[in-house]
Amino acid sequence: MSRVVVAEFVPSEDSAPVLRQWCEVFSEGQRRLSGTAPTAAALADMIEAEDDSIDVWRWIARDADTDEVLGIAQARRNSAEADLAEFRMYVTPHAQRRGVGRALSELVEVDITGFGVRRIRVTALVGSAAEHFLHKFDGHRVLLRLANQVQHLSPPTAESDRPGYRIVSWRNRTPDELVHSFAEALNRLLDAPGAELQMPERNWGADEVRSWEQKMTGGSQVLLVCCAVDGVGEVAAATVVTVDEHDCTHASQHDTVVLPQHRGHGLAQWVKEQQAAVLAAEFPLLQKIHTTVNTENHPMLTVNRSLGYRTVAERILVEIRRVESASHKPR
Ligand SMILES: CC(C)(COP(=O)(O)OP(=O)(O)OC[C@H]1O[C@@H](n2cnc3c(N)ncnc32)[C@H](O)[C@@H]1OP(=O)(O)O)[C@@H](O)C(=O)NCCC(=O)NCCS
Repeated sequence: MSRVVVAEFVPSEDSAPVLRQWCEVFSEGQRRLSGTAPTAAALADMIEAEDDSIDVWRWIARDADTDEVLGIAQARRNSAEADLAEFRMYVTPHAQRRGVGRALSELVEVDITGFGVRRIRVTALVGSAAEHFLHKFDGHRVLLRLANQVQHLSPPTAESDRPGYRIVSWRNRTPDELVHSFAEALNRLLDAPGAELQMPERNWGADEVRSWEQKMTGGSQVLLVCCAVDGVGEVAAATVVTVDEHDCTHASQHDTVVLPQHRGHGLAQWVKEQQAAVLAAEFPLLQKIHTTVNTENHPMLTVNRSLGYRTVAERILVEIRRVESASHKPR
C-alpha cells in the first residue's frame, strides 16, 4: 500500500488542479454528510475569492506515489469565540480505514494549537465511521442531534393568505426598505434551541446583511428569501434558501425565523410554502429541498412535517476540547 503525505494546504500557493481535487473531496464528503453541498467548481470559486484575512486553515492528504488527493480537512475560527473552530474532515471512500484520517487529525491538532484553537466542533452521521472515529478522542462530547430532512417538491399549493401580512420575496439582494427589519429577523435565529452551539452571537444591522448576502451568493449560489411583511412594512417572518445555478435539481433550505411578536399565526409554514412555490416557478428542474433541524426544535419539525419533509438521516454535533494532560489522538 502506498504512503500517505499530509500537509497544510494554502490554495493560493498551490495549483488550480490541486484546488479543484481538494474541492471535489470536500464537496463529495459534505454531500454525503448533509445531503447537499456546493459543487466543486462553485467551492473553488468561493475559495479563490476569499479575503486573505479570513481565519480558515486547510489541510490535504495525498498519495505519495500518484499525488491523488485522498483526504482534506478545514477549520474555521468562530468569530465570537477565538478558541473555537468549526471543523470538517473528509476522506475519499476508497481511501478510508488506511490511516488517512488519523494522519490528518494529528497534523491538524499540532497546527490549530499553534493558532490558539482549543476546541473544535464537527458533525458526523449517527452510526457512521466518523462517529466511531470521533468517540476515540479524549475530551469529546456530543452537544446535540440534528435531523437531515428532505422535501420532495410537490406542485405549488393553492393561493393562501394570512390577514395583515403580505409575501415579499427576492433574489440575492434585500430591498433597501426591508434590510433593517430583515437583519432583526436574522438576529432572532439565536432563539432556536441549540442555535448558540452552531452560530456566534450576533447583533446585525444593514452592513452585516450585505456581507452575509455576499457570502451566501459566493460561487454560483443563488440566494432566495421569502418574507411575510406586516402592515407597517416590516419583516415578520423569513425563510432563506440557496440553489446552485450549475445544479438546479435541489435547493438548500437554511434559516427560517418568525419574530417573537408574530409567532403563533402559522407564518413559518406560510413563508416556507410560498418559498416552495417561488422555487418551483423559477427552477423548473428543482426536485428536492434539503434542510437540517435540531431534533429538539419541535416547532420547526412540526412545520416541516406538515410541508412533507422527511428525516433521511441523523447527525451529532460533537465538540472536542483539548485535554492538556491526555493524548489527543484517536486511541
Ligand atoms: C471519519 C473519517 C474522516 C476517518 O478517516 P479514515 O482515514 O477512514 O480513518 P483512519 O483509517 O485514520 O482510522 C482512524 C481510527 O478511526 C476509527 N474508525 C475509522 N473508521 C472506522 C469504522 N468504519 N468503524 C469503526 N471505527 C472506525 C478507528 O478507531 C480507526 O483506528 P484503527 O484503524 O486503528 O482501528 C472518514 O471515515 C470519513 O471521511 N468519513 C466521512 C466524512 C465525515 O463524516 N467526516 C466528518 C467527521 S470527522
